[in-house]
Order: sequence, then C-alpha cells, then structure tokens
Amino acid sequence: MLLDGYGRKVNYLRVSVTERCNFRCQYCMPEKPFSWVPKENLLSFEELFLFIKVGIDEGIDKIRITGGEPLLRKGLDQFIRMINDYKSGLDIALTTNGYLLSDIAQDLKDAGLKRINVSLDTLKDDVAHKISGKDVLKKVKEGIEKAREVGLGIKINNVPLKGVNAEELLDVLEYCKQRDMPIRFIEYMENQHAKEKLVGLNSNEIQEIVATKYNFQEVKRDTASPAQMFEFEDGYRFGIISPHKHDFCEDCNRIRLTAEGLLIPCLYFEEAMSIKKAVQSGDIGAAAEVLKEVLKNKPEKNKWSSDDNNETSSRAFYETGG
Ligand code: 5AD
Ligand code: SF4
Repeated sequence: MLLDGYGRKVNYLRVSVTERCNFRCQYCMPEKPFSWVPKENLLSFEELFLFIKVGIDEGIDKIRITGGEPLLRKGLDQFIRMINDYKSGLDIALTTNGYLLSDIAQDLKDAGLKRINVSLDTLKDDVAHKISGKDVLKKVKEGIEKAREVGLGIKINNVPLKGVNAEELLDVLEYCKQRDMPIRFIEYMENQHAKEKLVGLNSNEIQEIVATKYNFQEVKRDTASPAQMFEFEDGYRFGIISPHKHDFCEDCNRIRLTAEGLLIPCLYFEEAMSIKKAVQSGDIGAAAEVLKEVLKNKPEKNKWSSDDNNETSSRAFYETGG
C-alpha cells in the first residue's frame, strides 16, 4: 500500500500521455504562438508502462489516462491493453475532449477501458467554437453517442464561465440527465496559461441555478472522489468539484505522471521528480524509489483553498491532465 507523508492512501495514478491538444480551451491553454515539448522528449508507451507496473505492484488500482488530448497519441488502445492485461480488475479510465472519440471508442472498449470523462461545456456551436478555438461540437456529440453505444461508462465535465457558457448550465444538465450520464461542474481553477479575466461560477452559484428547476439533496461524500455529489428526486446525480474548498485535499488519493516522465504529487504545485532515467535504463528499483520520494513530498493541500483568494497556479493543465 502507498501512503503519503500525511497518511493518505494513494491508489490512483493519472497518466498524461501527451500535452498536445487539438483544442485551445480558454480556461486551459494560451492561444498561439505556442511551442510544444519536442516529441523525442516523450516517454514511449513501453517506458510509461514500466513505471505503471511498479505503481500497480505497490497498490495503484485506479489509472486514468489524460493529456492534453490523449487520443492524439497513436496506439493508445494498445497501451490500455498492456495495462489491462497486467492485472485483472484495474479501474482504467480516460479523460478526453471527445473530438476523435467516435472512431476509436470500440477499440478502447475492447482493450479494457471502462470509463471515460468527456468535456461538454456547451450545446451551442458558436459557444463551443469560442471556448475551444474551433468548430468542435458536432464531433464531440458524435463521440459521446458512440461511446454510449459501445458500452463505455461516461461522465461529463463542464466548467461554467460567467458570460460564456454559464447561462446554459441547465440545458447541458438536461442533455446529460436525459442520457443518464452524470455531469460534474468544475469550478474554474485560476492558472497562468488561461485567458485572462475568466470568471467561473462557484459551487453555491451552481447549486442556486440548479435549484431553480430541480429539488435535490446532497449525497454523503465518497472520499475517493473530489466531487461533492447531489441527487434529484428521481435518483439522477450531478456533482460539483470545488478545488477552492478547504476539504478538497483531505482525502486526496492521487499522483500524476506526465508524458515526459515527471511524477507530480499535486496538481497545484511545481514540485516534481523525473522517472525518465529510471525507466529508460529499466531500473525498476530506482523507479520505485522516485515514487516513494514523491509521495513523501505530497503537500497537504493546494492553494486555491487559501483564504486570500488571489492564488493562482503556474502548472499547466494540458501537461498534467487536470
Ligand atoms: N479549471 C477547471 N477545469 C479545467 N479543466 C481544464 N482546465 C481547467 C481549469 N482551469 C478541465 C476540463 C476537462 C478536464 C480535464 O479539466 O474541463 O474536462
Ligand atoms: Fe485540450 Fe482539455 Fe485543455 Fe481543452 S481543457 S485545451 S481539450 S487539454
């Protein structure tokens, strides 16, 4: 079992397989000009897998593939198959913007993928264009439908921004409810790569809007999830992720690995250690040492929850996969 310096059990590894993305979401990336880490700096799937095996042997049983946009990396289904074949019963999930999903959904499912999270911030073509930088909505919706068809579990992520998509929050909720897909609203997390002057709805504001149409009750929090969940009278559930809240970090069970091999203890902070040398020389012991060291350094909490509300993170979400 993996424990961090505060006694929190860590069983969840998020693996970003690329920082590249075919979208330029306002809350995540700067517009151009933009330079990516050169491709040769990326770890191969075999190298990433070597570390993942170490993690699994130590007690990781939940793995989420993220990016950037993970579906930009060729052979992702094979990578998932490698992980799935290593140990049965792993919970393997993927976070995607959905744009390339419809063509590969079946292969991903066949490879052992259980669940996906797809971003759906709006149901309006022009707003989707405004947020992501191109015409994406039709393909994203096709991706969602295809993933449903092949039997992948789906959750929707939505970042409500004032004056951009927040006004449609109930429509997107309704779209998800009709398909029985849980939606999670994420409070916008300030970061230095996002477009300036974005203002997200906070958890109370989100609840107030939902309450204009539905009765709902808070569900006792599942400690393994950062989302606070709410249930409608008919049983449908939605969630809110509030990194600005004090209790967000208390049960944090996760660490993150980037495509370049940086092992990151917290989304917020710059601290990280590289596993690159260890995996490139096939040194499993050294990889396990880095893992232990990073866990020791996992901070107690992020700073979005600090009382002076001006904190912002310099870490890029497109490197760490949110
Ligand atoms: N604040 C909140 N959520 C964000 N995401 C990306 N950047 C931010 C941000 N600054 C979310 C996206 C996506 C998930 C991977 O992270 O909505 O669904
Ligand atoms: Fe790409 Fe996701 Fe960032 Fe949007 S939020 S730019 S889809 S990585």
